[in-house]
Amino acid sequence: MSFSTNPVTLVIQASLLCTAGLLILSLLSFLFIPKPLANIPYTRSSAWIAWGDLLSLALHNFRTHEVFDWLDKQCIKHTSPIVQVFLPNYSITRPVVIVTDQQEIEDITIRRSAIFDRTPLMHAWFDVLFPRSTVTMQTTPEFKEKRRLFLTVLQNAFMTNVTAPCIYQASQRLLQLWERKMHAAGGFPFDASEDIQQTMVEMIVPMLTGTHIDLLNSKKEQIGDDTVRHRGNVANFRAYYPPLYNALQTLSFYLDLTTQGISPPVYTWVFKKLPTFRKAQKTMDIFLTQIIGASRERLSKSPATNSGQVTCAIDQVLRCHPRDGMPDYREHDEFLKDELLQLIIVGQSSTSSTPAWTLKWLADCPVAQHRLRQALLSAYPSIADSHGATPSLSHLLSINVPYLEAVIAETFRLSRVGPASFRHTTVDTQILGRFIPAHTNVMLVTDGPSQVLTKPLPVNAVDRSDSSRKSAHRWPTWPHRNDLHEFKPERWLRDEVDEKSCPITLFNAKAGPLLPFSAGPRGCYGQKIAMMELRILLTMLVLRFKFVQLPSELSKYSSYDGLTKTPSCCYVKLEKVDEAVVVKEAQSSELA
Ligand code: HEM
Repeated sequence: MSFSTNPVTLVIQASLLCTAGLLILSLLSFLFIPKPLANIPYTRSSAWIAWGDLLSLALHNFRTHEVFDWLDKQCIKHTSPIVQVFLPNYSITRPVVIVTDQQEIEDITIRRSAIFDRTPLMHAWFDVLFPRSTVTMQTTPEFKEKRRLFLTVLQNAFMTNVTAPCIYQASQRLLQLWERKMHAAGGFPFDASEDIQQTMVEMIVPMLTGTHIDLLNSKKEQIGDDTVRHRGNVANFRAYYPPLYNALQTLSFYLDLTTQGISPPVYTWVFKKLPTFRKAQKTMDIFLTQIIGASRERLSKSPATNSGQVTCAIDQVLRCHPRDGMPDYREHDEFLKDELLQLIIVGQSSTSSTPAWTLKWLADCPVAQHRLRQALLSAYPSIADSHGATPSLSHLLSINVPYLEAVIAETFRLSRVGPASFRHTTVDTQILGRFIPAHTNVMLVTDGPSQVLTKPLPVNAVDRSDSSRKSAHRWPTWPHRNDLHEFKPERWLRDEVDEKSCPITLFNAKAGPLLPFSAGPRGCYGQKIAMMELRILLTMLVLRFKFVQLPSELSKYSSYDGLTKTPSCCYVKLEKVDEAVVVKEAQSSELA
């Protein structure tokens, strides 16, 4: 195009160019900038720029390493339990809806699960490691059959005979390691997060595969004068790990990067070409192929009756027959390998964050720690006389300690370990009275800000769905909100009288809103395993060690967010518990 020298023609040409430019921009914005949904608050400026809210999220993550609390902040900013954000990495055609009201989230996940299915985004996030695993799938008949095979792992007999011993043995190895570290550290605190994470790996890997990865014992053996370094006010221990564990760590690292990344498909494409990633993937693939082969061999030795000894989850799955008319997914090795890797990685990451948070709270709240220890010693009186003993596994499985349940619930409430579930609308629908079109991504902040805010975000009861209104009686609100920032397990306890009219204290799971594992058919698969891990591990730790309060610089409550919300600072300073003293205290407080 050539421009005229005549001013009038030039003005006309410029006007035409501007109009064309505006038309192109409007077209681009029509094509690439999602239109806001009606009646749902959003940040006005974000609706006009191609990157929407992504810059704000990226800056927040860069500053704090956190992601999940940015979701809360959007709802708090607009004083609304439902908001929309524009995240082109999630969708370039539609806004993403964030919901933080727990009553409505429970309703969506349980009673409206057909309308809110797993988002296809999950496939993009997990494609890098386990593309054929169930976590990436929508709730199709194929998903249901595959999930059914692995649900057999949650049966009581398997949990008691296989899962519980794996958890117990790994917890004992952690106690032994920490006894050694306590002495070697010479009164200095040390970082606990890696030890806890490795304990979870030592629980979950043998439970799923029948193979023990030796991390804690070998670490204990490696402690010598030359492996302890005192830097500042903390003791550091150096250790070397087996290639399988290193491979697991490498894969988890790349998964965290992909789930947080701006474009998971691009990250996946790049990572799959990196030699470190490929080496780790090969090591894991060889391991998983071997354990599936070994399990098939065990099964072939006791095939017809299925009575052969089940040593791990893969044994249990290979013994479970497919339903009529369904393909036999036990023959699909690529699926079995992906599903096992998914359970190893997802299982150990979320459960290691939780006890790490609990130990921080217990160290900073000595009264709660003392009450927990007293409650445990009253529940297991037989161990009181034998110094340093731990309850037997059968004892641990048979006794319920309400204060321990309350400590775990309070940790979930305040630490918000796995705070978000991702869904996708399958049809046009409504949330809290607002229209949501089909194929919209919805983020459910299951451990939402209303768990800690002094004033909950307002909801008009008439806006709730019918099914939500009908279940409203199940949703208590905290009577006092001014102390919601404090760690107070007592808020989860209820005093009652038993059949002999004696006063008893019970754990009240419905004392306040809490959904740490989400809910419904796509809620957490591993909830039963996680709760068993937490109960056993915390009981054994608190009976053996006193967790000493640390100076504030070693006791920060910041986190880094990947698959879960993990404390970025988890040091422990240990003292051996003198049971005799604690029991006397417990008995005298009972008498009083
Ligand atoms: C304290 C520990 C844990 C927490 C807080 C936690 C939390 C969650 C949450 C919030 C979800 C999302 C559910 C949804 O989308 O609605 C989830 C999903 C899942 N979790 Fe956990 N989890 C924990 C431990 C475990 C363990 C130990 C395992 C495995 C052994 C596990 C396996 C899974 C799987 C496979 C899914 C995907 C479920 C599906 O696709 O239907 N989790 N978890």
